[in-house]
Amino acid sequence: MDAIQIYGGNCLHGQVRIQGSKNAVLPILSAALLIDGVCEIENCPVISDVYHMLRLMESLCCKVERNGHTVRVDASGVSRCDMPSDSVSVMRSSIMLLGSLLARTGSVSMQYPGGCVIGKRPIDLHLEGLRKMGVVIREREDGFDAETKGLTGAVHRLPFISVGATENLVLAAVLAKGETVIENAAREPEIVALCDFLQKAGADIEGVGTKRLHIRGVEKLHEISYRVPADRIVAGTYLAACLCCGGEIFLKDAPCVQMKAVSAAAASMGAEIEEHEEGLSVVCKERRVMPPGLITECYPGFPTDLQSAFLAAMSLADGEGVLEETIFENRFRIVPQLQQMGAKISCQDSRVYVSGVKTLHGAILKAEELRGGAALVLAGCAAEGKSIIKNRHFIERGYEDICLDMRALGADAALL
Ligand code: UD1
Repeated sequence: MDAIQIYGGNCLHGQVRIQGSKNAVLPILSAALLIDGVCEIENCPVISDVYHMLRLMESLCCKVERNGHTVRVDASGVSRCDMPSDSVSVMRSSIMLLGSLLARTGSVSMQYPGGCVIGKRPIDLHLEGLRKMGVVIREREDGFDAETKGLTGAVHRLPFISVGATENLVLAAVLAKGETVIENAAREPEIVALCDFLQKAGADIEGVGTKRLHIRGVEKLHEISYRVPADRIVAGTYLAACLCCGGEIFLKDAPCVQMKAVSAAAASMGAEIEEHEEGLSVVCKERRVMPPGLITECYPGFPTDLQSAFLAAMSLADGEGVLEETIFENRFRIVPQLQQMGAKISCQDSRVYVSGVKTLHGAILKAEELRGGAALVLAGCAAEGKSIIKNRHFIERGYEDICLDMRALGADAALL
């Protein structure tokens, strides 16, 4: 059965090691397409998004070998440029392959990536940027054909910050002729990881981690071995689990520096957080207090990917509060489900108003997307009684084994 069963109410105690980052590894796998040889990627999370990405790369004639958390990609034979539509529809991140494939083969044919329940998620910035770099794009009703006689550098000023568009333009620029500047670039740690990978492979990128990236195209990139950094969103999810359930946990390998806004939000709710070289320790002894107001922002602000997990925690905090979503227009899908568990929350446009309750009660719930699904697991672990969370495949897109991790922390969660 595609579900998770939880007996809630346990206080958390224990340690869990944080897996490699999903949002870092997906563009890095795309970057491996730019290299005419073998790349070894270590600490690659074993999640379904990576599985689908690797299948998609194989369909483009990449050789892929996977051994546990190590993946070897040999892109020397990449020749195909039409992406199979069934893979594109299950895998929104297939758009991440566009910049690299254009650099490698000069033409790409694909369907628009599938719809997404958290919002419209158009790709206009990706396409507009690539047009500026010498790509002719013919849009069809359900997809597009893109072609270039050679990518050329360009100056981009993104009208608003987009992680994916920044990544695609970086991928298109590293082997392009001439210089590319991306103004108002996203600064997420996953973009820093992508640039780090590319620099180690021989790319010339300046301004990494800032809003202005300056890329000088190089002739070719060389084979490398690279270790994927730990997943700040998975670490933040388990930190929120401790806020929901109370207790004392250690998040081994958690990327503390990337988690400042998340740690600050947790501290404002009464958690004691300590940063260590080996990870993050979290202690939640007293009942949590409502944060003064939480708002999602681009990095280094509080991440939209942890909005649902913190909503679950806020539902159980003392006082009244507001949580505001500024990145995606439809990311409050778990509100009715938390209400079903007894949460006193109400949604109005981009805000959720929360009046904290002492306890939630178990219920039969349904994950509708990745991060919201993980948040339901946290709510189930904190609630009294039994919960069933259906559609666990959404959660498996990004968490290697959320039940195993939650059990290591003392919760009672198992696959059904
Ligand atoms: C990435 C992350 C996702 C995270 C998000 C924001 C991956 C695989 N996914 O998604 O987990 O929640 O960043 O931190 O890394 N937009 C447009 N036109 C475009 C591109 C984006 O209008 O061409 C809009 C989107 O609909 C959204 C906003 O811009 O409202 C930000 O999206 P973006 O930063 O691009 O998110 P993703 O790269 O899709």
